[in-house]
Parts: sequence; structure tokens; C-alpha cells
Amino acid sequence: MKKTILITGGAGFIGSHLVRLFVNKYPNYKIVNLDKLTYAGNLENILDIENKKNYEFVKGDIVDSVFINELFLKYKFDGVIHLAAESHVDRSIANPMEFINTNILGTVNLLNAFRKICEKNISEKRFYHISTDEVYGSLGEEGLFTELTSYDPRSPYSASKASSDHLVRAYFHTYKIPIVISNCSNNYGGNQFPEKLIPLAINNIKNNKSIPIYGKGENVRDWLFVEDHTKAIDLIFHKGKNGETYNIGGNNEWKNIDLIYLLCKIMDKKLNRENGYSAKLITFVKDRAGHDLRYAIDSSKLQNELNWEPSLQFEEGLEKTVEWNLNNQKWINNVVSGDYEKYYEKQYKKR
Ligand code: NAD
Ligand code: DAU
Repeated sequence: MKKTILITGGAGFIGSHLVRLFVNKYPNYKIVNLDKLTYAGNLENILDIENKKNYEFVKGDIVDSVFINELFLKYKFDGVIHLAAESHVDRSIANPMEFINTNILGTVNLLNAFRKICEKNISEKRFYHISTDEVYGSLGEEGLFTELTSYDPRSPYSASKASSDHLVRAYFHTYKIPIVISNCSNNYGGNQFPEKLIPLAINNIKNNKSIPIYGKGENVRDWLFVEDHTKAIDLIFHKGKNGETYNIGGNNEWKNIDLIYLLCKIMDKKLNRENGYSAKLITFVKDRAGHDLRYAIDSSKLQNELNWEPSLQFEEGLEKTVEWNLNNQKWINNVVSGDYEKYYEKQYKKR
């Protein structure tokens, strides 16, 4: 069936993997990738599909409501998969307003524009909002986040994502527009901006720089390979039920310090270093403000209803991620110059 699908944030980490999956898997769909190309957006992530007939890139800002309304009137999208966001917790602590604008106002602009084009063929339309497990807050040593866990966001980033989730649900109940939401755990894989823990550590190990671990490294995250996330998004977009939320997780909890030891072991092997060499770079630094202790997802609803499960073992996914970063030095050099250096200096020199 022919469809025109808008993917927002398709030049970012997860968005670029999703755009590639949809462009290649659905030749009958026209995929429009809308991205502002902030520091985190990079068209080099999707060079391999940029000339495909069913793909179009539009540069623009979701916060600009006039532009968004015109775009929706022009394309009359059948579906929207909304990933564009400010996504890094540390940046949200330093500069919350950017997160409020993009993550909350940007999402409302998309909902308003979508609502207008829902006046015709509403039964064939869908607005899919991509969210995070961080909206649920922080777990103690026991328990998992389910779709029924109360929201308790604790950083400006997670509060802005929680707010956007509430608005998406409010538009479903109030205006009856067809929406679906998923909340996913920590992603990893190629093309992730090296401000996030795994690519930052790989890059630092490679360059013999210290690996900054916040606090004692005891915080726990549930890691999922990015292509397993995009496969879940594909399923939920096509088969999920309107008004529903689906949790997506890797069933793969790691304390930060244990993850970094595993990464150091893999890096020693790949770089032909003596076992234990890279681990000497580990440096404990001042903790993140309001650092959530533990995230862990119960994704049994998605597994039972839509038959999804993560495909990769963590060690295999981590090796692939290390290889991607070692084989794409030019990409890394491009993104770690200029603004990144200023960010790194400010973020880590004070710790
Ligand atoms: P990212 O920071 O790598 O990419 C975000 C993209 O959005 C970039 O291409 C950026 O240019 C674009 N963007 C930012 N502001 C914009 C604006 N105003 N208008 C248009 N485009 C804009 O983020 P990511 O890690 O790929 O995350 C994508 C989505 O998935 C986010 O909504 C995030 O909250 C969610 N999520 C991420 C993870 C994770 O582990 N990375 C986990 C769960 C959910
Ligand atoms: O859980 C999903 C979320 O995962 C997404 O919604 C966010 O967009 C994504 O950035 C990620 O958030 P985290 O804060 O968990 O990811 P980050 O890679 O920043 O940090 C992972 C853990 O590592 C966290 O406990 C903080 C810690 N950390 C991070 C950095 C950057 C360090 O110890 N040192 C660091 O230098």
C-alpha cells in the first residue's frame, strides 16, 4: 500500500537507523525525513540511502509551527514517527530551555498539524511518539518498569519527555486522533553521538584519555541494540493498537562500571593491547545531579502481543559497536571537532 510517512529526527542516532530500515523495507512508502540538523543530527549517518527514489530530506525545526503546518498540508502524511528531540540528560541539566522548547512545544506543534490533516481518512492515519523509560523515574534494586508504572521524571530531559507523552495521550482522548507511544531503554550501536556513555568511552579508550565514570559507577541501565529498537518501532507502527503504550527493553541490565570493564576488555583485544591496559583509564568523577539509580524495563506486553524480542547478546552488540567506531574514524573526527570540544571541556573539566 502506498503511504507517505514523516520521520522526525531521522538524521540522529536512532532516527537514522529507522529511516534506513523503512526506506529499504518499504519501497512503496515515501519516507520524508524532517530534521533541524542540530549538533546531534548528521546527514552522513544516512549517505547510503540519500539517493533512493522513496526518500526525501527536509531541513526544518519542529518548534516552528508555521513551517510545520505548511509541511503537513503539503504532504498530508499517512503516518508520523516522531523521534526529533534533545536527548542528552547532561545537556538538559546545563540548559533545560532547549529541552522544553523542542521536546514539549515541538511535539505539540506536530500534534496540532497532524490533527488538522486527520479530518480526512482518519482511520488510515497514525501518530507514533517515541519516548524513553526515563519518564518512570528511578528504580531501587528490585522491580521493573511496566506500562502501568506511574510517571516520576527527575531530570529536565525526562520531565520534558514525560510532558510530551502526556500531551500525546491527551490529544488521543480529547481529539480522538490515532496515536501510539513506546518507551524504550538505553540504546547503543553505530552512529551514536560520542557524548553518550558507550561511544564516549570507546573514543577515549582509543585515544588513551581517561574514562569518566559518574559517582561510583553503580548506576544500572538496561541496554538494547539500536536495530532491535527500530525493529520494535516497525512492529508497533504497523500492528500496535491506537491509544496504547508499549515498553521496549533489552532485558539486559548492567552496572556502569561492569559495562566499562567489559568494554575495556573488548578494546584491549581489538587494539592489541595487553589485557587490563584500558581499564587503567577509568576515572571516577563527580556524580550527575539527580542521577537515577536504576532503569529496567518489562517488555512482556510487546513480546506477548506483537511477538518482538531482542536479537543480540550484549557482548556481540558491544563488539559490533566498537568495530563501527573503530572503522568510522572520519565520522568521529567530524563530530568531535569545534562545538564538541567546548562541550567536553565544560562538562568534564569541572568534575
Ligand atoms: P539524537 O540526539 O541522536 O538525535 C535527535 C535528532 O533530532 C537529531 O538528528 C537532531 O538534529 C534532531 N532534532 C533536534 N531538535 C530538533 C528540532 N527542533 N527540529 C527538528 N529536528 C530536531 O537522539 P536519539 O538518541 O536518536 O533519540 C531519538 C529519540 O528517541 C528521542 O526522542 C529520544 O528521547 C528517544 N529515545 C532515545 C533513547 C536512547 O538511548 N538514545 C532511548 C529511548 C528513547
Ligand atoms: O534510558 C533511555 C535514555 O538513555 C534515553 O532516553 C536518553 O536519550 C539517552 O541519552 C540515555 O540516557 P542516559 O542518561 O542513561 O545515558 P548516558 O549515556 O548519558 O549515560 C548512561 C549512564 O552512564 C548513566 O548512568 C550516566 C553514566 N555516565 C554517562 C556519561 C556520559 C557516566 O558515568 N559517565 C559519562 O561520561
